[in-house]
Amino acid sequence: MTALLLNGKELAAKKREQLKKDVEHLTTKNVVPGLAVILVGEDPASQTYVKAKQKACEQAGIHSVLIKKSDTITEEELLAEIELLNQDKSIDGILVQLPIPKHISEQAVIEKIAPEKDVDGFHPINIGKMMTGEDTFLPCTPYGVVEMLKEAEIDLVGKHVVVVGRSNIVGKPVGQLLLNEHATVTYCHSRTKNLREMTNLADILIVAIGRPNFINAEDVKPGAVVVDVGINRVDGKLCGDVDFDSVKEKASYLTPVPGGVGPMTITMLLENTVQSARKRL
Ligand code: GUN
Repeated sequence: MTALLLNGKELAAKKREQLKKDVEHLTTKNVVPGLAVILVGEDPASQTYVKAKQKACEQAGIHSVLIKKSDTITEEELLAEIELLNQDKSIDGILVQLPIPKHISEQAVIEKIAPEKDVDGFHPINIGKMMTGEDTFLPCTPYGVVEMLKEAEIDLVGKHVVVVGRSNIVGKPVGQLLLNEHATVTYCHSRTKNLREMTNLADILIVAIGRPNFINAEDVKPGAVVVDVGINRVDGKLCGDVDFDSVKEKASYLTPVPGGVGPMTITMLLENTVQSARKRL
């Protein structure tokens, strides 16, 4: 079997075309969606991600503001900066690029962002709403994964989803979203015993553990759907957490890296920003 590709790049492009039209429509009503991104410090990966977010906003017609701060900024100063954006009527979404320097509490920063502008979906109020299935901002990467599975018309009801990784940004919420879609969800992580036996039980395997080529064909049930959320750089080349070449011979569907989940994350951020702006109408 050779897996069909879950092409995130293509779906992202399709969604961004629609978003552009939605933004045009809002703009004719004098609502220009606005996203503010705060970048603290000089982390090269964060700089790349932030640049990509800005470019995507520009292409969609979303007003974007980048606020760069030195890594010597105090927590108090950063919280004050967020408060200004909370009050700013031209800003619908606020995102503080993570990670932030260790002397600042990540939780304090996340909780400072007004829940109605939390387009990352990281605020405890929005996480709570996600858990109970209420309408709210969904975290962008997990939201993108679910959209890809739906686009490919992969049935989720009653399926055994195994999530490898338990981060607050990806692992935990992607399991919750798939539970909301009536899947049966198992979480595995670095301390799971017999992890590779568990992954072999998955109808749908989501891998977000941050280790290059961690999952190979032996860890995958024949015909499983495999979603690789990892982005690792090995010898200057991007690779995922899944060994693409071996797993593609065993899975029914597989996401490539790059061109899989990655392009969907930013797209869902744009989607959340536009959703937030719509509330201004
Ligand atoms: N750093 C890595 N991924 C993300 C994300 O989705 N949002 C924010 N704010 N920071 C990140």
